[in-house]
Amino acid sequence: MRQILDKLPESSHPDLLVGTNTIDDAGVFKLNDELALVQTVDFFTPIVDDPYTFGAISAANSLSDIYAMGGEPITALNIVCFPGKTVEMAVLTEILKGGHDKALEAGCIIVGGHSVEDKEMKYGLAVTGKINPNRILTNAGALPGDALVLTKPLGTGIITTALKLDTISDELYQAVTESMLILNKAASELALEFAASACTDITGFGFLGHAWSLAKESAVGLVFYSANIPRFSGVEELASRKFLTMGDVTNRVYLEGQLEIDEKISEDVLRVLYDPQTSGGLLISISPEVVEEFVQELKKQGVMSAQIVGRATQENPGKLIVLND
Ligand code: CO
Ligand code: CO
Ligand code: CO
Repeated sequence: MRQILDKLPESSHPDLLVGTNTIDDAGVFKLNDELALVQTVDFFTPIVDDPYTFGAISAANSLSDIYAMGGEPITALNIVCFPGKTVEMAVLTEILKGGHDKALEAGCIIVGGHSVEDKEMKYGLAVTGKINPNRILTNAGALPGDALVLTKPLGTGIITTALKLDTISDELYQAVTESMLILNKAASELALEFAASACTDITGFGFLGHAWSLAKESAVGLVFYSANIPRFSGVEELASRKFLTMGDVTNRVYLEGQLEIDEKISEDVLRVLYDPQTSGGLLISISPEVVEEFVQELKKQGVMSAQIVGRATQENPGKLIVLND
């Protein structure tokens, strides 16, 4: 996508605060001094069998880019590709119900949508939110000395691939679906409250890919302690059995030359760090003085997996270092 965008003329307008040029999460357009629109869209093929759960996960994922920027979702449109000739309409009803309920939980109203006949089912939302133009979280504000917090465990790509090709334990299925269903709402609101300096959500480019965007846009180096990076328990074992998405390859190519990785880190852990995420958590850059309290507050509000995973440095701007401890 980025290669394609590079070939297009950049959108520019005096009121366009965040556009396509910063590889940020959503676009932001100013309406007046206190109010801006924040807009994003995402949709994809089913990652779990249960249609209601798929609809809800996809909606949570679509809403995430609004939260990554500190916005508040207000309305959304359904985007539906559906094989109506071969799959019962009741399946679509369940998908839409899941999406509707998740949007409602976010305080966001689905106001319409569009569907097309397609051999492969796909669902997601185009979301519009509101945001204070003076308080936009972007991936460009991280400061040297900041602590880095990740709010959800990694491994959804590997686990949902394993789920398609094989079976996984009920515990792991529960853990991964519950995590993908969690809105990044509380994390986003707390990030604003604690005056976080930068934020992004972890999706298709994996943990390392999105971290690198943040490093590059903020012109800081990022150092991670791999042992502290939350991962679903058992995901390394699935990684060792090569339940990998295409993203494992493309994310490695994309990041070539941008990172330094401790040789002691196992290949299976690395696969998890490169793994594309669906409805992943937020990576938040925040002052070290408030980070402990921030993580405590996240946990109090149900973001149980939040961990301090690294720090930002003046050295090595635009580069990542991943340590073994
Ligand atoms: Co994003
Ligand atoms: Co997105
Ligand atoms: Co239409």
